Formats: sequence, C-alpha cells, structure tokens
Amino acid sequence: MAFSFNFDVPLQTEDNRGDDFQEDKVKDENQDPLKSQSKPVETSDSTHKNLKEAVEHKNTADLHTHIENCVTETVSLGSLPPLHYINESVFEQTAPERDDGEKILFQTVTKNTDLITGVYEGGLKIWECTFDLLEYIDDEGETFSGKRVLDLGCGAGLLGILALKRRASRVHFQDYNSTVIEQLTMPNVFLNCEEESEEEDKGKTDGSPPPKRRTLDSSHDLLTERCRFFSGDWTSYLSLMESEDPTPKYDIIFTSETIYNTDYYSSLHSVFHKLLAEDGVVYLATKSHYFGVGGGLYLFQKFVEEKGVFQIKSLKDIDEGLKRHIVSLTFKKLQS
Ligand SMILES: C[S@@+](CC[C@H](N)C(=O)[O-])C[C@H]1O[C@@H](n2cnc3c(N)ncnc32)[C@H](O)[C@@H]1O
Repeated sequence: MAFSFNFDVPLQTEDNRGDDFQEDKVKDENQDPLKSQSKPVETSDSTHKNLKEAVEHKNTADLHTHIENCVTETVSLGSLPPLHYINESVFEQTAPERDDGEKILFQTVTKNTDLITGVYEGGLKIWECTFDLLEYIDDEGETFSGKRVLDLGCGAGLLGILALKRRASRVHFQDYNSTVIEQLTMPNVFLNCEEESEEEDKGKTDGSPPPKRRTLDSSHDLLTERCRFFSGDWTSYLSLMESEDPTPKYDIIFTSETIYNTDYYSSLHSVFHKLLAEDGVVYLATKSHYFGVGGGLYLFQKFVEEKGVFQIKSLKDIDEGLKRHIVSLTFKKLQS
C-alpha cells in the first residue's frame, strides 16, 4: 500500500500533524454524528490497474440468509416514504463472521478503513450526501413514476430504493463491490419490497396464498421485474450496458459521494455521457473537497466543463461542517 490517510480530514503532514488535526476531527464529530464513522483510507498504486470487471447479480437465493438476523433501521424524511436499511454498526460487527469472495469485510474491519482504492470503494456505509440528496428530493417533490433510474455507486442503495417506492419503472443499482451489492444493497431493496407486499396484502380475503408466503414471492417478483444489480468498475459497467441491445438509458442518474478520486472522472463522465437519456438529469451530491484523496466539486466541475458535453448547475449548498453540494448535469442543448 502506498499510504494511508483519513477521508474526511486533511492529509497529515509533518506540518499539520498534532493538535490541529485532533481539533478538526473532534469538531467534525460534534457537528455531524455520521462523521464519527470516518476511518482512514488506503490507496494502492498496484491494485488501481486491476479494477473489477462488471457483472450482473441475479441470484437472490441468499437474500433470506442476509436479512434473517440483521438489525434494521428506518429513515423517515419529510414526506418521503420510510426507507429501511440494515444497521451499519451491527453489519460491521458481524462482518468478519460472514464470507465474501472479495474478502473486503475482513479487510475493512481489521484495517479499520473506509476505502481501499481499487479494492473497496466505500459502499458498506451510508455517506452523508445520500441524506442531503434525499432531503433535496423531498423539498423538490420529485416523483419518479414511470422513470428509468440508475443509482450509480449505490452502496446501501437508499436513493434507488426511494425511486422504486415511488414507482420508477426500472431501477438499476451499481456498486464497485460485489459484496456490497449482495450483502447490503439487495437485502435493503428486499426489506423495502417486503413492506410494499405487506401493504398490498392488507384487507384481502380472497383465498389467496398465506400472507407470508405471498410476501416472499411478490417481493422476489418486484426485485426481478423492476430492479437490476451490477458490481464492478464504471468503464467495465458501461461496456456491459453497451453490449445490450438496446443499450439502457436512464431518465435519472443519482450519484452520491463518488467524485473523491480524480482518476475515475473520465470513466464516470463516460457513464453519464453514454447512458443518460437525451432529456435526463444526473443528480450528484458531494463534499466540496475530499482531503487526502484529492477530488472534489471544483476539480470535477472543471473536468466537466472541459469536456463540453454537460451543463452543470448548482442546486443546493449545505454549509454545516464540511461544505457539501448538490448539482445537476444535463446535456447541453444542440444549437439549431
Ligand atoms: C464513498 S462511496 C458512496 C456510497 C453511496 N453512494 C453513499 O452515498 O452512501 C463511493 C461509491 O462509489 C462507487 N465507486 C467509486 N469508484 C468507482 C469506480 N471506479 N467504479 C465503480 N464504482 C465506483 C463505489 O461503488 C462506492 O460505493
């Protein structure tokens, strides 16, 4: 590994190591409980070249095992439907007991890290900009009815789950890590589908199958009919999508806390460019700057402007703690 640092606080150098570092950290933790979950980050030059190939995850057979003994939480924001998800701390504590082909569960816990570049990209915890974007959607009253939605770099998948609950016609979830998709995103979607099925069950006395059995079946149908799940690097994900005929297009692409690494800007931009529908919108939520990792809104905006494909518009600035932002990207209109 080349070096290790903290994702949310300035990179420690001989000059700034010491009291300032501690104070910054304590201040952040006081301002935002989510910050206290921040851990060191590792980058690795060698792993960087071996980014994970994209695959689709279709097997829902293990879902019950993953949610059987999990502890769940619910976020209820304004007029949004309640969103259920697996409790992160319990998930983390039990992680070493579970098996994952990528071996990231063991690594993240033993190395106490939020990110290992090219190995684990942070999807096992919910980052605060996800909640900013949920709040923004609540304020704006976005309805997803009939829309095709991509939750890009989804992690726990709350943004995609909201779209699903608000009747999006199709929701695709993408995360770098297969472990995240299988052990967190899919179970979370399932938890929320289950509730929908239970709602539908209420009041039916027509001799249909016993509620529990039907709940499981209809949840499964919902999952397979309206959702698809993918893991892998963005370049590879784009190739996989482009190999389909027709190539899927999205009316809305959500992406939260995904512009921390400037090395990924090109592949991220290509996904937007090739998969966003002509009149579609990318909603991007981000911190101003990702200390230590180097990326942030200013550099990403510059990158987008240089490419000249998208118009980037500021939608909301959040000033508490580390500055955060929500921006939209839409295709520049062709001059007639
Ligand atoms: C910091 S996490 C944010 C997770 C989630 N969006 C949230 O706000 O809680 C960054 C996410 O971006 C995705 N990601 C980062 N770099 C990627 C890459 N090069 N290819 C594919 N996915 C990537 C990972 O899936 C990871 O979950």
